[in-house]
Amino acid sequence: MFDSISELLNQNKRKVKIRGWISKKRSSGGIQFFEIRDGTGFIQTTLKKDKVDENFFKELDLMNIESVVEIEGELKEEKRSKYGFEIIIDKLKVLHKADVDFPIQKSDHGPEYLMDNRHFYLRDRKMFLITKIRAKILQLIRKYFDNEGFTEVHVPSIVNNAVEGGSNLFKIDYFGNSAYLTQSWQFYGEAYINSVGKCFTLAPSFRAENSRTRRHLTEYWHLEAEMPFCNLECLIKNEEDLISFVCNEIANDMPNELKELGRDPEYLKKIKAPLPRINYNEAIKILKNDGVKIDYGEDIGADEEKILTKHYNIPFFLTHFPKTIKPFYHKEDMKNPKLTLSVDMLAPEGYGEIIGSGQRIDDYDEMLRRLKEEKLNPKDYQWYIDMRKWGNVPHAGFGLGIERIIMWICKLEHIRESIAFPRFVNRTTP
Ligand code: 4AD
Repeated sequence: MFDSISELLNQNKRKVKIRGWISKKRSSGGIQFFEIRDGTGFIQTTLKKDKVDENFFKELDLMNIESVVEIEGELKEEKRSKYGFEIIIDKLKVLHKADVDFPIQKSDHGPEYLMDNRHFYLRDRKMFLITKIRAKILQLIRKYFDNEGFTEVHVPSIVNNAVEGGSNLFKIDYFGNSAYLTQSWQFYGEAYINSVGKCFTLAPSFRAENSRTRRHLTEYWHLEAEMPFCNLECLIKNEEDLISFVCNEIANDMPNELKELGRDPEYLKKIKAPLPRINYNEAIKILKNDGVKIDYGEDIGADEEKILTKHYNIPFFLTHFPKTIKPFYHKEDMKNPKLTLSVDMLAPEGYGEIIGSGQRIDDYDEMLRRLKEEKLNPKDYQWYIDMRKWGNVPHAGFGLGIERIIMWICKLEHIRESIAFPRFVNRTTP
């Protein structure tokens, strides 16, 4: 039986046995230090010369990192080690000897090199931490939805229409016909609420974004939720409750990992609903005040969002966008039909939009009118419109970009760090 490194550090066990990859090594006189990684954590181990045969000691000294070993020894507190503990090795067995130098040796490899070697870079401590936090965030999201009585549902990724407009659709050849990779689960979510009520999905969405920014992927993980009998107010409440829950719980569950990435868990614990709100009109005024050249009716893009985020130190809502800059399905605001009952959530510190959402059109005639206004062919959306004929009710939903929220929670500079194998305009490998 082997001990797992993550559990070792919480136990009082003295004699331990682990196996794993050598992620770093160095030697000093008659002592060799190996940093071992076993999939659950990292620990420093120390081998003194007199513990093994002289030739074997020399052989180990020459051995490359990413060789795999089995170690038995004594666990000791060690303040000088980054992990607070070390294992003094009694026995060491080599399970796999890496014959050549590992491609990632230095700390100053450029981003493109690390992207080309992603399959190896995953073993890096930073990627390990982000991957563990990512998995925990997804667990917490599912926990939140479970507590709130949502049902998880799954739908196809190959579709025949655009949800978010045609400009960034991936067209594919589907047995001689055209089909697309989905931008959003939303239309199917709207179908499902009439069956199972509140529901959500976690699935990839695709955007043919021909832009190289620090927050756009061409394939990203999309958390989407849809709720019947729900208006804009109810939608905002669900979003702020989910985000506060995830922030507070991740801060409790993984404080050390967050700290190591530069995020103060105490900051995340302070994120509590209700979150601040401003409407589009107010946002434009703030931007103008800040010297931005923007007119009422123009879209608020990444640069403008960055400026708005300077006014808040927690996530906040941007509501009531004009119809002209939102997809057709957004319900009009009865108080001002030029506006929609839409809401985005922006993360502070320059991160910007993490959620896009709104109340949907639930009336058949209004839907037809909006499609025509947008010069879209109702026939392309027939099944979607037809749902308004039978039992449709006021409803609303949202889409949260998983990589976007991870970027902000982990304080990452670029979206490529929040997913193992990112997809960009110029990258489909590894
Ligand atoms: O604002 P979007 O386009 O909204 C929708 O797709 C709605 N149909 C969702 C819904 O209501 N069910 O996208 C939602 C979120 C954005 O706020 C952003 O976090 C993320 O998806 N997102 C991206 N993330 C990474 N790379 C991209 N290219 C993204 N495009 C959108």
